[in-house]
Amino acid sequence: MPRWKWRFCMHILAIETSCDETAAAVIEKNGSNIKILSNVIASQIDLHKKFGGVFPEIASRAHAEKIITVSEEALKENKDIDVIAVTTGPGLIGSLLVGVNFAKTLAFSKKLPIIGVNHWLGHIYSNWAKKPYPTFPALVLIVSGGHTGLVLMKSHNKIFTLGETLDDAAGEAFDKVSNLLGLGYPGGPAISAAAEKYKASSETKSGSQAPQEVLYAAPVERISFCDERVKLPRPMLGSKDYNFSFSGLKTAVLYEFKKHHQNNLVKFEIASEFQQAVIDVLIGKTTQAAYEFKPKSICLCGGVSANKELREQMEKAVAALPWKTTYFVPPINLSTDNAAMIGLAAAYHLNQKTTWDKIIVDSNLKL
Ligand code: KG4
Ligand code: ZN
Repeated sequence: MPRWKWRFCMHILAIETSCDETAAAVIEKNGSNIKILSNVIASQIDLHKKFGGVFPEIASRAHAEKIITVSEEALKENKDIDVIAVTTGPGLIGSLLVGVNFAKTLAFSKKLPIIGVNHWLGHIYSNWAKKPYPTFPALVLIVSGGHTGLVLMKSHNKIFTLGETLDDAAGEAFDKVSNLLGLGYPGGPAISAAAEKYKASSETKSGSQAPQEVLYAAPVERISFCDERVKLPRPMLGSKDYNFSFSGLKTAVLYEFKKHHQNNLVKFEIASEFQQAVIDVLIGKTTQAAYEFKPKSICLCGGVSANKELREQMEKAVAALPWKTTYFVPPINLSTDNAAMIGLAAAYHLNQKTTWDKIIVDSNLKL
């Protein structure tokens, strides 16, 4: 058992390799002041683009190639580390193993304690990057490529899952729909850009407006590029639980796309309607949970929280609640995968530190 020093001011080296970003960060915990000292990310987007999604074998090989240089870069200004934090799951098994084995080797050779961090917990803590921090109870919507769920945090150690996706995650739906429409990878930014194009072109198009419909969040004025307005379902919006389902939406997109003979302009209209359908469901479920649990904070996190429309419409929906609730959303660079969020989660759970031999990978790890 190594003799761990305890210091009031601690430095945590965090490692994240659960999917297609090789990431390392250093977090400083000085009493209750916690800050990000470095946050380095090597993205693999270019490697996976031609496959329209993450190719697991290529991802793990790229992590193995990058993990040392990325960590060295993160440690450049802060070499004195007290604790190591690493994502142990959920994620791609080959990718997770690279980060975990690297972190374990470092903990063993430097005789340092190590903390295994759940990737979703990391996403949650991207909202704790700077003060003011969310206050409890906090309602957290996690929307990423691998997971969609609503979580109620009563404290740092009392975290309850209210509901989650029964099939595809929201980000996964963005990626699949983008592929289907031929808009490229990663799907989130591609759909978002296509929806912006639709908005811009529909604003300049002359002619009569389609009947306006009040959606769950912000009402959107639309003009259609086909005879009928493209209309997609809002899956599970009316269900009494907090679960989600996005796979049917993807099939509905396929039918709409075929119906309109894969016309280019209609493609942007479908992208816009798809984005709004996802946003309506996410905001609808979040406000439904807010009415039940009356949280003091509502937090958005995960890769899909980088979506501009979602960020803005959620802000409006939270502001419209009839009691005071503060809205939190991480900066874009902490919305998508990064190691700083893993280090932040570890900083709030330092009591979970253990030795390298106790750390195991679980690609299906639950919150
Ligand atoms: O959290 P993340 O980086 O990785 C996982 O934990 O899965 O999330 C990645 C997901 C991808 O599906 C990507 O398409 C989506 O986040 N995403 C977006 C946007 N940027 C990334 N989705 C919608 N709009 C965006 N701007
Ligand atoms: Zn993630």
